[in-house]
Amino acid sequence: MANPSLLILAGDGIGPEVMAEVKRIIGWFGDKCGVTFDVSEDLVGGAAYDVHGVPLADATMARAQEADAVLLGAVGGPKYDVLDFSVKPERGLLRLRKEMDLYANLRPAQCFDALADFSSLKKEIVAGLDIMIVRELTSGVYFGEPRGIFPAEDGTRVGINTQRYTTEEIRRVARSAFELARRRNNKVCSMEKANVMESGILWREEVQWVHDNEYPDVELSHMYADNGAMQLVRWPKQFDVIVTDNLFGDVLSDCAAMLTGSLGMLPSASLGAPMANGRPKALYEPVHGSAPDIAGLGKANPIACILSFAMALRYSFDMGDEAARLERAVETVLADGVRTADLMGPEGGTPVSTSGMGDAILAALDASL
Ligand code: IPM
Ligand code: MG
Repeated sequence: MANPSLLILAGDGIGPEVMAEVKRIIGWFGDKCGVTFDVSEDLVGGAAYDVHGVPLADATMARAQEADAVLLGAVGGPKYDVLDFSVKPERGLLRLRKEMDLYANLRPAQCFDALADFSSLKKEIVAGLDIMIVRELTSGVYFGEPRGIFPAEDGTRVGINTQRYTTEEIRRVARSAFELARRRNNKVCSMEKANVMESGILWREEVQWVHDNEYPDVELSHMYADNGAMQLVRWPKQFDVIVTDNLFGDVLSDCAAMLTGSLGMLPSASLGAPMANGRPKALYEPVHGSAPDIAGLGKANPIACILSFAMALRYSFDMGDEAARLERAVETVLADGVRTADLMGPEGGTPVSTSGMGDAILAALDASL
């Protein structure tokens, strides 16, 4: 049987640096565990714009549709701020999400014991935290029409975006959340603004419908998203799985990320419907951005990108044992006090470089055999 295929789109900023460490990890699994992939690479974001004049070439889009899984680094940077909106680096990522129909974005926020002191919150609030945010990724205000900047009657301008959700868009992401909850602590909290938005009312009713008809065994609660943001920093351990729309999910997941100490730690999986081979359409990417301020300096933390590959092992390739091996290696390295610059506490110390962190994780993987 052919090896499963991985398409790597390292992108911009720190993307290529953190992805370089992932490639070493992929190589390790091939050499030491006989887990091999057909890896190919292509351009996305500003890197694609520089070569093709668009942030995602049609040929790259087609390859992403064919791949068993896509690994993405990061997109964007100040150099591209001047570009027309339609060719900004972010549009490349949004096109991948939309055309691959990756409607369920899984953003786990897990606090590693060794980092519990790093959060801006008190240790007892975050120690042992393990929550999963399921963000709807292909609809809502990110894609709703009408959108644009239009002339107003008085000669000024009006900016318009549309929050729009259909029954089926809500039901399918709700199902993803309930499925995940069943394999975790069996609790889902759905967040919207049903107090001010009709789309929020529909969201609440449809999530409840899926629950009542298909997942009555899972505990479901509803919360307004603003209260949800507050509860996330007040007592995050009350949550197991949170399901929410595209925009609220964008905001709430950055908030949840900081509970874990650093944005440099958080992986994500974006999943769509199963392909002919039974695997879901899938793209894996760190939650952090391209961090242009530290790009090229070897300072970036590769852990979020490495843990995104662990999610690929688990969710695309059914390799839960391999994923757990990689996650344990990361945990070991952190427990040993290995830190990139973003993980340096007030007590200081000497940070390792991006590849230094990669070295440490590879050593921990070797030791795990
Ligand atoms: C994210 C990012 C993206 C988003 C940007 C880069 C388009 O913030 O994945 O959270 O807003 O979805
Ligand atoms: Mg975001």
